[in-house]
Amino acid sequence: MSDFIVILDYGSQYTQLIARRIREKKVYCEIHPPTADLKALLNRNPNGIILSGGPASVYAKDAPKAIPGLFDTGIPTLGVCYGMQLMSFNLKGKVERGSRREYGRTPIKIVKKHPLFVDVPAESVVWMSHGDQVTRPPKGFDVLAESENTPITAIANEERELYGVQFHPEVVHTQFGQKILDNFLFNLCKCSADWSMHSFVEKAVKQIQETVGDDEVICAVSGGVDSTVTAVLIHKAIGKRLTCIFVNNGLLRKDEAEKVLFTFRKQFGIKLDFVDAEDRFLKKLKGVADPERKRKIIGREFIRIFEEEAKQFKNAKYLAQGTLYPDVIESISTKGPSATIKSHHNVGGLPKNMKFKLVEPLRELFKDEVRALGEELGIPHDFLWRHPFPGPGLAVRLIGPITKARLDVLREADDIILDEIKACGWYSKLWQVFGVLLPVKTVGVMGDERTYADVIALRAVTSDDAMTADWAKLPYEVLETISSRIINEVDGVNRVVYDISSKPPGTIEWE
Ligand code: XMP
Repeated sequence: MSDFIVILDYGSQYTQLIARRIREKKVYCEIHPPTADLKALLNRNPNGIILSGGPASVYAKDAPKAIPGLFDTGIPTLGVCYGMQLMSFNLKGKVERGSRREYGRTPIKIVKKHPLFVDVPAESVVWMSHGDQVTRPPKGFDVLAESENTPITAIANEERELYGVQFHPEVVHTQFGQKILDNFLFNLCKCSADWSMHSFVEKAVKQIQETVGDDEVICAVSGGVDSTVTAVLIHKAIGKRLTCIFVNNGLLRKDEAEKVLFTFRKQFGIKLDFVDAEDRFLKKLKGVADPERKRKIIGREFIRIFEEEAKQFKNAKYLAQGTLYPDVIESISTKGPSATIKSHHNVGGLPKNMKFKLVEPLRELFKDEVRALGEELGIPHDFLWRHPFPGPGLAVRLIGPITKARLDVLREADDIILDEIKACGWYSKLWQVFGVLLPVKTVGVMGDERTYADVIALRAVTSDDAMTADWAKLPYEVLETISSRIINEVDGVNRVVYDISSKPPGTIEWE
């Protein structure tokens, strides 16, 4: 096992960011809940431990506690915000409610030189977000830094290798946050920066081979990045003992099924079982207009088909899935589930009670790391940077009841949109771009004739993570070309409108 850092998650919105920052520095790290099995973690010889921030007060009845022995490991341990308060509280320092909340950019002054602050100027600005603060450090701790409202902003106990900062070094607004993390990782924890996708592939291939042994694996692929990278990685490990299953639900983009077949069979040389279930899905969706019902029907039908199909592969004991690290963290962290706005993640999910054992080789990776892994595996760059496409596909971009004829109209319009957006160089600047077929007809003229035909709404957004999104300021000429091509080339459409809503309050998809 190469060097690694354990992060204990006390519920801060920034915990994932800590992990991201550390991995960017080529040090492997894992996030664990505050109740993790410390002994098991210590058996893996971590170089350091970071305690994240969190919304609780150490005095609250249900506040997350420190695992017994956490401060006696002899391993360099850095408490961030709540982490520092928890450390102080447990070691008999004093934590109190500050006279006022400290939030945002805050100047601090270093009052004692320390390896944690090498190359950090005596005065700098950090990002604070706390109500409580440490008002008396535990015995044996030095105060390293102060701010106007927080006289004890950073502490250290050299002998026990325990450190604490009240601010958030992982947030970009902390001017020297990167440096402070570097100092912790490389000066105090003695990590080497040697975690890379190359070493990840080697380790993952070995692990897959050990897990699977001589058995066979099946993997549902959608043509999306995560399932494709999963399949290619597993294929690298076990070759022909992997079979992928691809279901055409009739709600895919133009020529998508052919493209997936070609890519898997011809380019990757992976065995692919193709299930053409277009009719089955369209029959089930007949007359259904409600978005959530559409999603449920599609999700249920997919599972049924997958189960039926999987029966053929009698020797398959394992099912591979492209679960990513954020999904794993979501299920193990202290945070409660957020409210369901759309039932996104129910779609394309597989039943929990199948007889298969799971292989999830991307469980430790963030999305951009999955792309880097894809590059390492030789998957074409364009493929890895495809825009996200929802599991229920065009069903949620066709407002109102679904018919094959209307899907074909949408497919044609969508194809033109992608074609033009790629041609003008905007594809890589956008998070997503697509057409939506509206359930209204409007009047137009074509030649000398009055038309009464469909409307396509063009949706193009920029975003970092789909949580928020802004409508894209596409050049007028691009809008003009897309509009005129759709109206001229797609039978049954006589009008194109541009969606200028941001998320929130809008969502990216229309359903
Ligand atoms: P919204 O519309 O909620 O979408 O702003 C956020 C992101 O999620 C995608 N999306 C889905 N993905 N199944 C999926 O797999 C779904 O039912 C679904 N609905 C929305 C959407 O494309 C965007 O990237």
